[in-house]
Amino acid sequence: KAELIHVFKGIPFTTRSSPELLKSLDNFDAREDDVLLVSYPKSGTHWLAGVITKLYNSQVTLTSPIEFGDISKLEELDKLSSKRIIPTHLDYNMLPPNFKKKKCKMIYISRNPKDTAVSMYHYYRDNPNLPTVDTWTAFFDLFLRGDVVCGSWFDHFLSWEEHKNETNILFLFYEDMKKDLPKIVKDITVFLNINISDHEIQDICKKSSFSEMKTNTEKENSDPNHTVCALTSNRKLIFRKGTVGDWKNHFTPKQNLRFEEIFNEKMKLSNMNYIQLS
Ligand code: PPS
Repeated sequence: KAELIHVFKGIPFTTRSSPELLKSLDNFDAREDDVLLVSYPKSGTHWLAGVITKLYNSQVTLTSPIEFGDISKLEELDKLSSKRIIPTHLDYNMLPPNFKKKKCKMIYISRNPKDTAVSMYHYYRDNPNLPTVDTWTAFFDLFLRGDVVCGSWFDHFLSWEEHKNETNILFLFYEDMKKDLPKIVKDITVFLNINISDHEIQDICKKSSFSEMKTNTEKENSDPNHTVCALTSNRKLIFRKGTVGDWKNHFTPKQNLRFEEIFNEKMKLSNMNYIQLS
């Protein structure tokens, strides 16, 4: 199924991201009030998107990731009259420059890369729109080499980490959302200037739990199958397990050592001790 993937500027994309669209992103017309949700795949994008649309009381349009689709995507985005919440898996260097020029607010969510790798492995296995992977061991190697959709986790993270202290960028971690969601939601409201009571925050947190989101009892979208991910509308593929530390059920001790060795080598330029690897 190699035809499902093409490489653009050194990064593997699915053929759902047309080369024409990717090329045109350089001229994308950003609006000052656009909010970007940035992530490497399988880091909590849907969770964050669910929280944010609820914070805006659904008075916003959550688009599919900006890099998904063909060239007509740009026109569609341009036509939207409401505030746009735009997810993206692009690394910082590929982000349409107008988002940077206009200082749009951007929220980057990251996750223990070991759990991200495991989540991505299951997604590859279960999603017919992605290349076939036979075993976890085979996928582990692909992930470490960055030979997966959106490229290397390390390069993606580092490209954004460099900008994490800019005032229009908020850096979040999946594990912190698991630990204390109301606190993170509060941080998001401060960042986005949203006025909301603590009571409402509690309510949003309840509605954003894994089980609520998985069954989508709230029907926040008219289409109950709606997902942010343009590669599937099957919620079961996105809302798989929703836990911290599932890597322990997959990594062999040897794989763990190798992962940490590469992590330490790639990350040595930055002070990364705040990333949870355990
Ligand atoms: S995608 O396809 O790249 O946009 O996927 P993404 O949404 O970034 O990540 C999917 C993983 O996030 C988990 N998830 C959640 N965890 C906790 N709480 C909530 N509400 C929640 N919603 C989604 C989802 O289960 C995927 O992780 P795994 O480990 O595979 O379960």
